[in-house]
Amino acid sequence: MARRLIPSLALLLVALTISPSHGFLGTEQKIKSKVFLSPKLVMNPGSVANPFLFDIDFPRGHIGIKGFDAEVVDESGNPVPLHETYLHHWVVEPYYVRKGFELSQRDMPRNHGFSRQDHERNLGSRPDYVLVKNGGLCRNTVRHYFGLGSETRKTSTYVPGPYAIEIDNPDERPEGYEFKWLLNVHAIDTRGVVDKSGCTECRCDLYNVTIDEYGRAIRPGYKGGLYCCFDKTQCRVRNGFDSVEKTRTLYLKYTVRWVDWDSSVLPAKVYILDVTDSWEKTEGSTGDNQEHYCHVEYEVKPCKNNGDGCVDVKKKSLMMPFNGYIVYGVAHQHAGGVGAALYREDGEGICSSMPTYGNGDEPGNEAGYIVGMSSCYPEPVKVTNGETLTLEFNYSSAVGHTGVMGLFYILVAQQLPEPESSLPALFQAHAKSLSVLTFLAATVVVAVVVLIAVVVYRRQNREDGYQSLTT
Ligand SMILES: *[C@@H]1O[C@H](CO)[C@@H](O)[C@H](O)[C@H]1NC(C)=O
Ligand SMILES: *[C@@H]1O[C@H](CO)[C@@H](O)[C@H](O)[C@H]1NC(C)=O
Repeated sequence: MARRLIPSLALLLVALTISPSHGFLGTEQKIKSKVFLSPKLVMNPGSVANPFLFDIDFPRGHIGIKGFDAEVVDESGNPVPLHETYLHHWVVEPYYVRKGFELSQRDMPRNHGFSRQDHERNLGSRPDYVLVKNGGLCRNTVRHYFGLGSETRKTSTYVPGPYAIEIDNPDERPEGYEFKWLLNVHAIDTRGVVDKSGCTECRCDLYNVTIDEYGRAIRPGYKGGLYCCFDKTQCRVRNGFDSVEKTRTLYLKYTVRWVDWDSSVLPAKVYILDVTDSWEKTEGSTGDNQEHYCHVEYEVKPCKNNGDGCVDVKKKSLMMPFNGYIVYGVAHQHAGGVGAALYREDGEGICSSMPTYGNGDEPGNEAGYIVGMSSCYPEPVKVTNGETLTLEFNYSSAVGHTGVMGLFYILVAQQLPEPESSLPALFQAHAKSLSVLTFLAATVVVAVVVLIAVVVYRRQNREDGYQSLTT
């Protein structure tokens, strides 16, 4: 009998180990994907578009986002190369809006959403809208959930494993409000301009800008950046370049990947760290976001020694306001960038994110542009509240650069999946992550196997019995 039961038991164990090991796959298989087009952007040679677009198309309901990819396309849906339309940045940000209230561009914070103050119109206890900000640290300036620039085509935004960014939890939505998304796209049409890299770096002289979007004088010494290439500004076009009939209509095409929220999905939060953050550790500093003023952009001065090895290294140590596990990381750099990294205080590396430059003409491989940044998918890195991490951003300083950025995106999970290797915990751990159906199926398989084993055992006993009777 023992000889025959062993194969049955082995079968049972196989049945147990095969089906549950697909717990993560269960989440992966549930991923939905949809492609959307933004409202149109009308561009001319040298023109700049930097609109805030409200209530954009997006999957609705309580969902977990697994990825957000974007690119600029023309009216026929063809990808547009960066040397024609430079994608300075796009950012996506959720908000709650009071039912019946229409949010518009003039409600938006000044300076392209990068201003110091938040001009949310607060009407007593019922504001017209509430922006849903990322987890930190510069929540008054860099508030978005997703955002990239020229590197968008070749940068992975995939949220790994059982993690996803939780969106529109109905328990958190205030009564009388709707959940929506806004999109800010900053595109620069560089067809026919005198200096493509100068226009993409928003050099004030090329835009002939001396006062900003709100009529304030640009501070002396400010050579270029967001203050000089706001919506509807114009970069200088070559004399004799025929701009007639060059008007084109473009769209940001974006692909959202998501899962419907359920208990098998583990929430991961977006945190954006900025190397230009003003924060300094002082006696009694709490790391609270009031202490952070993020400049968002900075200038890289050309090096003096006029040779190789001209690298501008910028570092910033910041105190983390969470307990959790980093499961994803990626940096945002502009042209000239040569890499960025996040370290622990003792120098241990957590994530380095390196740029890929194009070397051709076609969309996704444009020479001289950053067409991708490498993303990190580390074994979850545990971070304790109050721990200090260090950012490092390197730019080549062989030539100077204006308006460069040093943002580092991380995704932080509050909890890890329960361990799944140990056999006794097998059922427990997977009852949660498996769909009910798979779990039922597994139970049926186990029941059948047990039944067969019992029948075999009985029959054998009976045979033994007969044998004993006959002997
Ligand atoms: C630059 O702006 C000034 C003042 O607005 C204007 O007088 C001048 O013609 C502009 N120059 C160019 C090249 O557009
Ligand atoms: C930045 O440059 C410094 C100095 O050259 C180098 O030690 C460091 O490894 C670089 N960091 C990254 C992320 O490339």
